[in-house]
Amino acid sequence: MPKSRLTEKTEWRNLTEHKNEIKNIHLRDLFSMDPDRASKFTITDGDIYLDYSKNIITEKTLDLLFKLAESCGVNSETGKMFTGEKINSTEKRAVLHTALRNLSGDPVFVDGRNVMPDIAAALEKMNVFSGDIRSGRRKGHTGKRFRNVVNIGIGGSDLGPLMAAEALKHYSQRDIRSLFVSNIDATHITETLSDLNPEETLFIISSKTFTTQETMTNASTAKGWILDALVAPEAVSSHFAAVSTNTDAVTSFGIDRENMFIFWDWVGGRYSLTSSIGLSLMISIGYENFRSMLEGFHAMDRHFRNEPLERNIPAIMGLLGIWYGNFFSAPTHAVLPYDQYLHRFPAYLQQCDMESNGKSTDRAGNAVDYDTGPVIWGEPGTNGQHAFYQLIHQGTRLIPADFIGFAKSLNEKSDHHKKLMANLFAQTEALAFGRSAEELKRLGVGEELIPHRTFQGNRPSNTIMAEKLTPFILGKLIAMYEHKIFTQGIIWNINSFDQWGVELGKELAQKILPELSGTSETRLSHDSSTNALINYFKSKN
Ligand code: F6P
Repeated sequence: MPKSRLTEKTEWRNLTEHKNEIKNIHLRDLFSMDPDRASKFTITDGDIYLDYSKNIITEKTLDLLFKLAESCGVNSETGKMFTGEKINSTEKRAVLHTALRNLSGDPVFVDGRNVMPDIAAALEKMNVFSGDIRSGRRKGHTGKRFRNVVNIGIGGSDLGPLMAAEALKHYSQRDIRSLFVSNIDATHITETLSDLNPEETLFIISSKTFTTQETMTNASTAKGWILDALVAPEAVSSHFAAVSTNTDAVTSFGIDRENMFIFWDWVGGRYSLTSSIGLSLMISIGYENFRSMLEGFHAMDRHFRNEPLERNIPAIMGLLGIWYGNFFSAPTHAVLPYDQYLHRFPAYLQQCDMESNGKSTDRAGNAVDYDTGPVIWGEPGTNGQHAFYQLIHQGTRLIPADFIGFAKSLNEKSDHHKKLMANLFAQTEALAFGRSAEELKRLGVGEELIPHRTFQGNRPSNTIMAEKLTPFILGKLIAMYEHKIFTQGIIWNINSFDQWGVELGKELAQKILPELSGTSETRLSHDSSTNALINYFKSKN
């Protein structure tokens, strides 16, 4: 395969050489050689604290990574995104999730038109609607207050509001439950609706396209459930709202245009939480908290756009990911939040990162000859410690990890929080420094157990801290990861904003669906494995 421009770059070659230079240096040495290492590799931006000192890097590594970022045009490409250039080239779209939380008062143009007034109007419509649901001014068909808000959506139309509703549950109005249905598996909607009163249930059908099979199937099941219970076609207009870009499909479903919340094709699904897709979240936490989350997003947007690389948190996190993924061949990246409220954060980031950077073709259409997006995974601490941390500590693969923690708990109870945070700090320490055979001997461990109980250490991690989990901080954290992903996409020269990889499966499922209902004589023309699986299914139905 011919070498691509990226791997031919001097900056890339310098990093390859540098990796060889430092491959035998241990984090233990790096820390003992430099008493200032922690402060040197820590950035505080207002209320976010990033300690990246426990990475296998020196100042030279960073310098080389910054040179790579400069040579790939991270800075200029960032400007293009923020100013509405059509950087999503395969879909010919601007990428303007940053405009959704642009609280600067500056205009943002798409095709010569300032989109900020439209964004403000959409936000105000959400404000009024969510306020009416929260106060009970807007009621269901039989005059009862809404107690359940069920968001039906999938992917970006589900994971963002779901993750954030969980993350900000502390700030929610407790007499309204937020529920989410995404899977086309009928079990999801059946179990979700099983103990709900239809008279008190509002559905928000969230779908950018309003054609997604899973969402439309669940939406029509929900409509049937309301109609069966309330026996009045007019009930649909009081119990359904929609968030979409597709007005025709929304109205033909029977949803009142008054109850439709718009967004735009320049908002990617996985970047849409701060658009009307956040409606269910706003109902849960209220306009003020939602707005404070937007402020957090905006603060991180400004940081990313304005700070030099040396102080730029998302850029540094992105570059560290390149360092491990491309120069240490690390195939995955763990995200480990030490906060139960963030239990869906890794799942949210899976879509954000893997749908964005899971690409093997560069922006010009050439196959890449380097690794791109890593597998993102994780669970909240401390549960993960009793499940998969064994492999992070002693397995054969290098797994860079982000630890996320807060100085204060939102639920202070005896010494829970100190114990939680002691675990976080202990894990990053153990990963970095390990435990040597000599130390084990000193501790009196028998010869035969020494190989098993040795921890090599030198396992990298970032620690991201804030005082406590607030809507503002959540916004900052999400934007931090969005821009990390962006930085990596620019360096890999891929389009982080399309998702053609999800299309083929959708298309084949459409073909297979009628075959599952066909008679046993229907001729199948798939491969022998797929034919046999379809026939097995049919034989049991
Ligand atoms: O999984 C593919 C995808 O297009 C995502 O990018 C998107 O978030 C999701 O489907 C849902 O799409 P929609 O909002 O159009 O229903």
